[in-house]
Amino acid sequence: MKNVPFVICLVLSIQVAAAEGPPTLNLMPVPAQLELGDASIKIGPEFSVTIEGEGGTPRLHGGVGRMLRRLSDRSALFFDNSTFLQLKGRSMAAMVVTAGRAGELALGEDESYRLTITSDGIALQAATDIGALRGLETFLQLLTLDENGVTVPEIAIFDQPRFPWRGLMIDSSRHFMPVEMVKRNLDGMAAVKLNVLHWHLVDDQGFRVETLAWPKLHELASDGNYYTRAQIRDIIDYAAERGIRVVPEFDLPGHGSAWLTAYPELASAPGPYEIERSWGIFDPTINPTIEKTYEFLDALMAEMAELFDDEFIHIGGDENNGKHWLANPEIVAFMDEKGYEGPLTLQRYFNERVLAILTKYGKRMIGWDEIFEEGLPKNVVIQSWRGRESLFESARLGYSGILSNGYYIDLIHPTDDHYLNDPLPADSPLTPEEAARILGGEATMWAEYVSPETVDSRIWPRTAAIAERFWSPSRVRDLEDMYRRMDRISLMLEELGLQHERNRPMMLRRLCQCRDVAALEVLLGAIEPVKVYNRGRLRKHTQFSPLTRMADAAWPDAGPARDFRWAVERLIESDFMDEEDLGAVESTLIAWRDNRGALEETLRTSPALADIEPMSSALAEASAIGLEALVLATTDSSANKDWLDLRLERLNAARKSHGQVELVMIDPVVDLVCAVTLPVSMTAEGCREQETPVVEHH
Ligand code: ACM
Repeated sequence: MKNVPFVICLVLSIQVAAAEGPPTLNLMPVPAQLELGDASIKIGPEFSVTIEGEGGTPRLHGGVGRMLRRLSDRSALFFDNSTFLQLKGRSMAAMVVTAGRAGELALGEDESYRLTITSDGIALQAATDIGALRGLETFLQLLTLDENGVTVPEIAIFDQPRFPWRGLMIDSSRHFMPVEMVKRNLDGMAAVKLNVLHWHLVDDQGFRVETLAWPKLHELASDGNYYTRAQIRDIIDYAAERGIRVVPEFDLPGHGSAWLTAYPELASAPGPYEIERSWGIFDPTINPTIEKTYEFLDALMAEMAELFDDEFIHIGGDENNGKHWLANPEIVAFMDEKGYEGPLTLQRYFNERVLAILTKYGKRMIGWDEIFEEGLPKNVVIQSWRGRESLFESARLGYSGILSNGYYIDLIHPTDDHYLNDPLPADSPLTPEEAARILGGEATMWAEYVSPETVDSRIWPRTAAIAERFWSPSRVRDLEDMYRRMDRISLMLEELGLQHERNRPMMLRRLCQCRDVAALEVLLGAIEPVKVYNRGRLRKHTQFSPLTRMADAAWPDAGPARDFRWAVERLIESDFMDEEDLGAVESTLIAWRDNRGALEETLRTSPALADIEPMSSALAEASAIGLEALVLATTDSSANKDWLDLRLERLNAARKSHGQVELVMIDPVVDLVCAVTLPVSMTAEGCREQETPVVEHH
């Protein structure tokens, strides 16, 4: 990446950056460098844009057109017709976009830009049209609508990404994701400057690409839910217009049920095979010892290498349990003959054969970290899902890699877990040369527990925070500020058609078959879906299970519960003296306590909500205990150990999961009851020790 020196163009007074870094406004990701002036610049109906430079490509014209559309839609300004129609050659442009050349959709392309806004005009300058697109997104995030009207701040930004590979993986196999879902998420990715769609197109549960070479793949192994070649091209073009690469994944040799449903002659075990409907790690595995396998893959990759433009093809390589290999005497004999120690060595042989095919068709190989072994050509890229250590190890040995461990958004972790997870932390043991091999990371949206209706709410807005980790300087780590900005960005993402906010009330209306969902929304503020893979452990789910329940409507990262937790922390720290926090904690607890009554009739008459009733009761119970603690704290009364023990017992009982959701307001209430009974030094540990793991009770 070209490092353009930062020049301040503002002539007006400049706010000196505070010690903790410059202001972040509503920007996500936060730019590399930013200086804010005092003035606000009004945007009016006469706003117009000129595009200059060799990089004034159709891609950039399209990007400016979409920017103007969104600017007008958000601000409700009526622009002159000529704003839209004559982007080029206007003399009185309010914004001049200059791009030096057409960017290439390739790893490491220059995405930097400089955005300068003064009362004299708005200048967006970039080496490439792709950099200019990134700057247009920043410009839209700067737009402010308030009592002063429609404005942007006086500002000078120089920006460039920290990492060149910033991805989102979408799994279209477990649940098929329609073209519209992929497109709206490409728009969301572009809005937060992600640049790689890693498309997981094949898994045990379905093969999702039309292939001319081996048509039984999509005919027999997709239930009719696959992308035609024309749709694939359409999506690649749509992504390219937004400066996003599309890397397809064909998961091999494990995760093989769909492959082998179509072509059982490639299997390692007799079969029969069918599309897998459940979730987990399964045995079907492609046979790496027969030439037919490589003839098959050669023809397939020839077609896919032509269909997909990107330099990389992902071969998966994960979670091959080797069972079918070891159960097949011919495969065992092959391993013996070659002197292979076991399935790992055999998989290495397979990878090398596949690599030769990809190389023949001009592609580079990327795979999950199981494919890593010394001796692979150094242009193979490793995607680490099992831990950062494997990423560092491969970097030490000369291989580039990306991090996905810690960015598994399907696991329903809170945003801050992902946000603070850094592909290259300050204390990394790597030398600068090795560190340069860490190319970035990818959020992974595995689709066992998402449908097209719910998937946006699992991707967004959390992935905006992950995108910031990949783009912004590593010093940008303030959690409160991140949540503040993410909340704003979430609304902006909606204007792209993303459904993460809007589907929730609709899902609640369907659950209760009623219009007034206010009390259900209150309950959602205090619960989250169970984490990690507990959902499947607590109740068996398959491809046909409903994903329309409270666990699906619930936020992965409930904002009201988080606000409550923070208010409780501050309140305890102030020794219950902070009036504002006291008021906030008390009113939240009252609303939660009284919500049981408000929901009673709805829960009684809604079969689809029956399993949630105990959660509503537990919320009321836990909230009442919290209120008792507040009374003790504010009336100078004291409670004894018996009082405490009984409350802790009841709070622990309230931790029980029902309907695969859990109450996430218990810990702060535990802290409250402890704070009013125990000496300060004992508060946290003494009480939290009593936590029990989530246990489901049907
Ligand atoms: C993976 O999660 N099996 C890559």
